[in-house]
Amino acid sequence: MAGIAVSLLTALMLNEGDANISYPSVNCLIINLEYINCTWIVQGIQEVNYTFHRLGDTYRECPTYLLQNGLTVGCRLPYTAALKFKTLHTRLSRGSNSSGLEQSIDLKHMVKLDSPHHLRLEIKEGASNPELWLRWNISRPSTCVESQVRYWKQGGDHWEETLPIQGYSFIPPFFSPDDVYKFQVRIRVSEACFQSKYWSDWSSPVVWGSKPRSNSAAFPPWRLGSAVYCLTLAAVALIG
Ligand SMILES: *[C@@H]1O[C@H](CO)[C@@H](O)[C@H](O)[C@H]1NC(C)=O
Ligand SMILES: *[C@@H]1O[C@H](CO)[C@@H](O)[C@H](O)[C@H]1NC(C)=O
Ligand SMILES: *[C@@H]1O[C@H](CO)[C@@H](O)[C@H](O)[C@H]1NC(C)=O
Ligand SMILES: *[C@@H]1O[C@H](CO)[C@@H](O)[C@H](O)[C@H]1NC(C)=O
Ligand SMILES: *[C@@H]1O[C@H](CO)[C@@H](O)[C@H](O)[C@H]1NC(C)=O
Repeated sequence: MAGIAVSLLTALMLNEGDANISYPSVNCLIINLEYINCTWIVQGIQEVNYTFHRLGDTYRECPTYLLQNGLTVGCRLPYTAALKFKTLHTRLSRGSNSSGLEQSIDLKHMVKLDSPHHLRLEIKEGASNPELWLRWNISRPSTCVESQVRYWKQGGDHWEETLPIQGYSFIPPFFSPDDVYKFQVRIRVSEACFQSKYWSDWSSPVVWGSKPRSNSAAFPPWRLGSAVYCLTLAAVALIG
């Protein structure tokens, strides 16, 4: 028993009868407002098959466990909109009928959205210069979502990040059609709707301009945009 207890993570408040047994802490994340992933991470080798309950009117056992090497490492719970503003009461125990560690988890800021997709670039005639428009789609459009763009200019040594943006488009102010730029976008729930602690992952990149640069004389980059990048990749794949 002592050996098992030592291999477990955080020793926290316990119910009576479980004196000196420690339990891992539970973390829950609302994934893309579609389901909730609650996970417990054991330090060292996990030896216990934990049972997870959620307290509603009664304790209900986890409907879908996440398993690793045959042992439970998490629970997938259904998501309903009301849950975002609630505290989730959970119990992690060592058997279906034993007491265990009860933990209350505030879900308000625990949302991770899926990355934006379908990034595309388009040139429009601006007042004096051509403007480059970056647009993207998200899987669940909402006024509660803010985006952040990051861009990398060929020859630069780091990504620049914008402040959070409302809407799903961005006109880079620094644009020069002859340069090569790479863009990525990520999103999160905005402050007006209980800002999420987590950004989505960055989207797949979209590239403006041609590679290598010597091509740009023969093929004006504003006609080609990311198509050139795809062709370059295809060529590399064929050669490789
Ligand atoms: C629990 O641990 C404390 C200190 O580690 C010890 O003093 C106490 O006797 C233990 N209680 C039980 C029931 O084993
Ligand atoms: C949910 O948790 C499982 C188990 O840890 C993990 O494999 C999966 O990637 C998680 N899902 C997301 C979207 O984080
Ligand atoms: C652990 O519990 C899960 C869920 O009840 C079950 O599917 C799995 O077979 C159990 N693993 C072991 C080793 O008992
Ligand atoms: C569950 O635990 C309670 C209290 O420890 C005990 O009275 C009851 O008999 C147990 N039920 C089963 C099915 O083991
Ligand atoms: C992207 O969003 C626009 C409207 O904002 C929609 O017309 C278009 O079908 C979407 N495209 C994809 C691939 O989801």
